[in-house]
Amino acid sequence: METISLQSPYDMHLHLRDTPLLESVAKYTAQYFSGALVMPNLNPPIDSVELALSYKDRIQNACGDYNFMPLMSLYLTEGLDRSVLQRAKEVGIRFVKLYPKGATTGSQSGVSEVLDNKILQILEYIQELGLILSIHGESNGFSLEREAEFHSVFTELAESFPRLKIIFEHLSDHRSIALVEKYSNLFATLTLHHITLSLDDVIGGGLNPHCFCKPILKTPKDRDALLQVALSAHSKFSFGSDSAPHLKENKENGKGAAGIFSAPLVLLGLAELFEKHKRLENLQSFISDNAQHIYSLPKSAKVINLEKKPTQIPREFDGIVPLFSGRELSWSYT
Ligand code: NCD
Ligand code: ZN
Repeated sequence: METISLQSPYDMHLHLRDTPLLESVAKYTAQYFSGALVMPNLNPPIDSVELALSYKDRIQNACGDYNFMPLMSLYLTEGLDRSVLQRAKEVGIRFVKLYPKGATTGSQSGVSEVLDNKILQILEYIQELGLILSIHGESNGFSLEREAEFHSVFTELAESFPRLKIIFEHLSDHRSIALVEKYSNLFATLTLHHITLSLDDVIGGGLNPHCFCKPILKTPKDRDALLQVALSAHSKFSFGSDSAPHLKENKENGKGAAGIFSAPLVLLGLAELFEKHKRLENLQSFISDNAQHIYSLPKSAKVINLEKKPTQIPREFDGIVPLFSGRELSWSYT
């Protein structure tokens, strides 16, 4: 039977929520990954070192005995104080997440004007401390153009802060690829859903709220261009699932929460995809090596073995409908 071994997988964009959802979802990423960048968009947001460290404790409790490193991030609010950033650095929190206000789930406390002087001063200090800036890059314009409309902000930031490592999260638009390639301090994450699905999976047949996420899935052309970047294991791009669990009742009945839950199956989906395109040899770089370089992460001893044997993806996990719900994938965890 065909098998592959993935060494030290990293998920560089993950939502774990807080209890009780945390208890349902954390074990999947903890089991299959060495570490993950945990997003701070809780309510209230993780905007202090104390909140980040107590959240980290709850995550570690929920992960039980799995050897797993939660990489914590701070939420960039307009009032974020330099002393908080300084302390974050001291305790080993290396990431700051910037959400434009209103752009997505949990972004109410985000930034109204990224290029405002007050925000630029915070970013200057983030650069000085050598922290990494992760950005949800969307404007508040027409939904299919939001990512492209945000390019001017990335350009301004990349040029103003040449020593600041900036991550353009969950790329969804093919036009973003050239922008990431243009600036040496700009990097990006790619999700499984943005390289496998398109807007037709959301609205092409019956409305499917379980494939609704921000940034919205776009055209087949966008999907295919992003897929080629992933398959080629382009060194500026690493895997970030953006696994974002919402209870079924909050996705359906007109509630329409944005976010796709993929943590239990992302490695299986990636193996199927890379094999289909005859690029299985590049999966290791996409799932780990690129992230180790970009984020200076250690290679852990964890090895995840997959075999070419079908897995039936459950329709639900604890009331959460996952990506590829009810479908069969061609790989299994051993
Ligand atoms: C995320 C969530 O639910 O927290 N939702 C999403 O659609 N991706 C937030 C985010 O990353 O935009
Ligand atoms: Zn996210």
